[in-house]
Amino acid sequence: MEFTLPEYTRHKDNKRLDNIPGSYGLPVVGNTFRFVVQPFAVLDQNYRRYGPVFKASLTFQKFVCALGPDFIQQLMLDTSQSFSTRMGYEGPLGDFFAGGLLMRDFDEHKFHRRIMQTAFKTDAMRTYVELMHPVIDREMGRWGQDSGFHFYPNIKTLLLDVGARVFLGMDLEGPETRALNQSFVDMNDGILALIRRDWPGLRYRKGMNGRRALEKFFFELVPQRRGAQGNDMATYFANEKSEDGEYYSDQVVGEHLIFLLLAAHDTTTSALTMAAYYLANDQQWQQRLREGLQALGRDHLEYGDLGGAIPDLDNCFKEVLRMNPPVPMLMRRTVKEVEVGGFQLQPHTMLQVSPLYTHRMEEWWSNPHQFDPDRFAREEHKQHSFLWAPFGGGAHKCIGLHFADMLFKTALSRLLLSYRVSFAKPGQYPGRIQHFPFAKPMDNLPLKLERL
Ligand code: HEM
Repeated sequence: MEFTLPEYTRHKDNKRLDNIPGSYGLPVVGNTFRFVVQPFAVLDQNYRRYGPVFKASLTFQKFVCALGPDFIQQLMLDTSQSFSTRMGYEGPLGDFFAGGLLMRDFDEHKFHRRIMQTAFKTDAMRTYVELMHPVIDREMGRWGQDSGFHFYPNIKTLLLDVGARVFLGMDLEGPETRALNQSFVDMNDGILALIRRDWPGLRYRKGMNGRRALEKFFFELVPQRRGAQGNDMATYFANEKSEDGEYYSDQVVGEHLIFLLLAAHDTTTSALTMAAYYLANDQQWQQRLREGLQALGRDHLEYGDLGGAIPDLDNCFKEVLRMNPPVPMLMRRTVKEVEVGGFQLQPHTMLQVSPLYTHRMEEWWSNPHQFDPDRFAREEHKQHSFLWAPFGGGAHKCIGLHFADMLFKTALSRLLLSYRVSFAKPGQYPGRIQHFPFAKPMDNLPLKLERL
């Protein structure tokens, strides 16, 4: 089915926000540099000065910020079809996200989300857990031997390998996997470039070259997987048919796969890195989780152990995502005039809501800056259905949330059953955290792993 380019995509952002309180800060850069270092503090200062809805210039872009669970709910549920996800992400990320689900709105989005249906059904998910175990065992088995062990680069490599196996069904040690991983890393790096021009010598060009290499690879891979048997996501996607009984084109499927890899990789890398950081600091919680896992009497989690089956592990997952949501700000652009928090927003106005801020609001959470997984046992998050929203909600709600749950719990359990984890040096907590594009300790988390 062909969808024509919606009319609202042809407009520039509305920058006339005179009716909205707030300040843009410095010319061009606004408050970007402070925001990147202390996002919560900057949002909190604005919230206290101007109220929950204000204008700001953060991340080199002018937009309206609406803080709190009500606004996450309004934007995510979008009952009046007022907010374009595509135009929210187009400016900063459009070149890299091209063709991905977040770059499609309304009916077109619904049509495309179907491509991913089979790949995220229970039977498929069950097999992914089985595919993950040997990769995680192999990689983690090599850890801990090196005295300069840093958690972040190691979990990143491990998760790239899990991705190659589960998403693409590829041989892990092959040169093709290494080249593919490199293109992927280059693309991720390009996303951060300050000068956003595809010109020789620039970081952005390197990122776009990574993207082009991935496109070439995927557009060739998809036809090879048609009619093939396989329990990896690429094979599921390639064999999915539309309601008219037609395969989706190689380009459409390839672009969805690239976006999926992007959406899956850094988010789970960040969550596991921050979990290791909090648990290295909190030995009591680490031991409590380990004992709970040992009590199962298995050295591997099974599919049935995931979801909410082991409450401590589940609460720990939730708490890590509360403290440092891998997607800290959710972006949208209005497609028509709409009221938000008592303010009329004109069409084409950029708007952001923030899990990062909402997850630490004192009005809702007890000791919000403290790592305390038991708050989920006390059901603090149940006061509002969008108070804890690391996966967004509504039509664009993360399609990989159960997959992320499985991967997080499978990898964390393997780690805790294999090693006692502590900081490599004194003074690592509280450490300096890099918040963008994804949370991780600035020092890449040097850890001491003692084999159990
Ligand atoms: C802890 C890990 C993860 C977090 C916190 C996370 C968070 C999110 C959020 C907040 C959104 C919605 C963005 C918006 O509405 O603006 C989203 C969308 C998405 N995520 Fe995730 N994600 C995670 C892992 C994954 C994984 C593992 C996959 C794939 C296996 C995945 C695939 C996607 C896709 C395809 C979308 C777009 C959905 C749509 O537009 O319909 N994510 N994710």
